[in-house]
Amino acid sequence: MLVLGIETSCDETGVALYCSQRGLIADALYSQIDMHNEYGGVVPELASRDHVKKLLPLIQAVLDEAALTSEDVDAVAFTKGPGLVGALMVGTMTARAIAFAWGVPALGVHHMEGHLLAPMLEEQPPEFPFVALLVSGGHTQLVQVDGIGQYQLLGESLDDAAGEAFDKAAKMMNLPYPGGPHIARIAKQGTEGRFKFPRPMVDRPGLDFSFSGLKTYTLNTVLGIEKAQEQLSDQDKADIAFAFQEAVVDTLAIKCRRALEQTGLKQLVMAGGVSANVRLREKLEQSLAKVGGKVFYARPEFCTDNGAMIAYAGCQRLKAGQCDDLAVKPVARWPLTELPSI
Ligand code: KG4
Ligand code: ZN
Repeated sequence: MLVLGIETSCDETGVALYCSQRGLIADALYSQIDMHNEYGGVVPELASRDHVKKLLPLIQAVLDEAALTSEDVDAVAFTKGPGLVGALMVGTMTARAIAFAWGVPALGVHHMEGHLLAPMLEEQPPEFPFVALLVSGGHTQLVQVDGIGQYQLLGESLDDAAGEAFDKAAKMMNLPYPGGPHIARIAKQGTEGRFKFPRPMVDRPGLDFSFSGLKTYTLNTVLGIEKAQEQLSDQDKADIAFAFQEAVVDTLAIKCRRALEQTGLKQLVMAGGVSANVRLREKLEQSLAKVGGKVFYARPEFCTDNGAMIAYAGCQRLKAGQCDDLAVKPVARWPLTELPSI
């Protein structure tokens, strides 16, 4: 089965072709980051308008790259939610319309299920059951995954998502949007030991997270330096980025280890934009190896939003006979645990 996957939940237009026999055939991404950077974050209306402009040419480009035509496509999968509703609307309506025109089924995919299954596109994929750490701009969750659609929420952030915390900390230091990759980049020049940021909620039992206190701590550190010397030097920023990243990474690693101990599982899948963070990968590998755990993640371009993960997740469900009718609507909020199993 050849599936065309479409992702438009936020500020990236992603399109891919995934074949159940041959694997990933082609994928393309258009990022709106430069456009939103001017405003310090995503402007939803601009995002929707840009998806309208970019989506159809990107679908054509992916078909051309694969030397295929619409006649070869057996089904269309698209991100139905969660995300920005206007942006989701563009992908949902376009996907549903072209599937109708081509006479093939269409299926709305959960964006976080797409992230969660993205490591399945790699050469050595994890096997069910496993624990997934979902860390994106909007979500921080630990989920026990027994199969597709068999999700048990183990813990989640009570306030900001990990990616959101990275983005806000970056903004405090006037770094561009999205801040995660910039914090990671400048943290390499950071001085270990100059600042020690708190590790939120690690001394409490359970698997929930909270990042808003860390955000306030970062702000106070920035304001403290600015008060003393007017503005932050590049070294100050690097030192803050280092301490901030260590605190987030440590907190996530402690909870992941606890999740493996609690479930008795040995595989941890990390997915979503923050899973591209190299320090997080290192730390998780080190920390979980101590309890016999193995870490799985997608290649960097499939950690952040992309069409390949939607084509893959959609293909698994479409193969099982699931599809959406013409009345399908995008959903801004959609708990992962509401998904049916296959
Ligand atoms: O999954 P994603 O592309 O979009 C959402 O579904 O939200 O995640 C985007 C988030 C942003 O907050 C971004 O700053 C963060 O992932 N991110 C990173 C890194 N790359 C992206 N955070 C830390 N380190 C990175 N290398
Ligand atoms: Zn995402």
